[in-house]
Amino acid sequence: MTDAKTPSVNLSPSDYVIIGGTGDLALRKILPALFWRYLDGQITADYRIAAASRRDVSLEDYAGMLRPFCEDAFSSGAASEDNWTDFLALISMITLDVQGGAGGDQLAGFLNQRADSARPSIFYLAIAPSLFGDATRLLRDCGLVTPQARLVVEKPLGHDGASSRAINAELAEIFDESQIYRIDHYLGKETVQNLMALRFANVIFETQWNNNHIDHVQITVAETVGVDNRAEYYNAYGAIRDMVQNHLLQLVCLVAMEPPSHFNADQVRDEKLRVLRAIRPLSAADISRGQYQEYTQELGSQSDTETYVAMKLAIDNWRWAGVPFYIRTGKKLARRASEIVITFKQRPHDIFQRNGGGDIDSPPNRLIIRLQPSEGLRLQLISKEPGPGGMRLFPSELNLSFGDTFEARLPDAYERLLMDTARGNQTLFMRRDEVFAAWDIIDPAMKLMAGGTPALYRSGTMGPPDDLLATDGRSWIDPYDD
Ligand code: BG6
Repeated sequence: MTDAKTPSVNLSPSDYVIIGGTGDLALRKILPALFWRYLDGQITADYRIAAASRRDVSLEDYAGMLRPFCEDAFSSGAASEDNWTDFLALISMITLDVQGGAGGDQLAGFLNQRADSARPSIFYLAIAPSLFGDATRLLRDCGLVTPQARLVVEKPLGHDGASSRAINAELAEIFDESQIYRIDHYLGKETVQNLMALRFANVIFETQWNNNHIDHVQITVAETVGVDNRAEYYNAYGAIRDMVQNHLLQLVCLVAMEPPSHFNADQVRDEKLRVLRAIRPLSAADISRGQYQEYTQELGSQSDTETYVAMKLAIDNWRWAGVPFYIRTGKKLARRASEIVITFKQRPHDIFQRNGGGDIDSPPNRLIIRLQPSEGLRLQLISKEPGPGGMRLFPSELNLSFGDTFEARLPDAYERLLMDTARGNQTLFMRRDEVFAAWDIIDPAMKLMAGGTPALYRSGTMGPPDDLLATDGRSWIDPYDD
């Protein structure tokens, strides 16, 4: 066991302003993440948090709204009532109407009270993107867009390349790219960052990490939840825009990118961008879409929106030519599990067959990176069965479970990302050109799919059958049991 208590790297204190502070994203993700960082000592009493909302909400009422989303901190024993009281003392409620401008003075007053004018102010727009323009103009008009100001935004940043360009252009009128933090929360997941450590802090994998040794790559992000109370949003987006355009393509980038010469924001993002630009335009035969059977009933209307998608991607560069990347994601699938499976090529020559070794079933080596739940790594090897009587082989496994190895809980992605905004580190945030390059892959794919109907699948299965892999003589590898 390694005691990996989340280290409290000292940062100079910041002011967080959550615009949309009483909304779902703020209550579910942002404030609980700040609370955990507070509990771990990284957010200190010098930090200030403003929850800005159109509604006039007292701090007492706000505490009541927030508490259910912080309950795990109490049940795990990490938080006490005193911690909660002290954390609430960091929060100020601000009534702010980003459209009409009312409350701008109060916000400016709050920020201008700070002792140190150089401290970062982090504006998190937890509101609909249609309000981003109003919000950023209001911040500018209140004199709050200083060199220390940072802007945090999150998808959906548009529903296609054109709308994404329009939203980003609006942000760019007021904030410099170096001040904009676009969240893809997958990049904040511990195991996703570990993928970079695995590749670039070890030599053994990197020497094998190319089309000489790798047969193909599979990425599965399977969810058991349906669309629940997000049906309206989801129906306008579907799995391709909701998950592939951002999270899955980011995972593809991290698996496929060249090593940057330094682990810094622009070099990492330059390399990811090169991957996106090398992805070959998809054809209809490369895409399979599905919809779970109850979807239209839940929605209350007919719909051709996909709740499942599988794609075969080709990356046209020297490293990956000939190595397909099969990706899939869906709702209401058999289980919640996200995995990257790297399947290595079969050995070029089998010395054991000739000995009558009986390795009839000798699967290729595989590296399985489990992103969630039960985060870990498995390396599948072939070993000799113990005992005399010939050379009998069997598949075995090296298993690194992060849960068993590290005592501390793995922090939520938002904790890492929020602290990176305070730190001023954009490495795990998407740059504008990356977002556009991802849309350049997705827009033509959506056109190909237009007018088509997704195949229905039963909830609790792994989606509709497809022949993306079968035509290549391969099959999907389902996530392993936890
Ligand atoms: C979000 C999508 O970005 O990611 C959701 O909008 C999806 O539809 C969620 O459920 C999955 O995130 P996680 O962290 O639970 O894998």
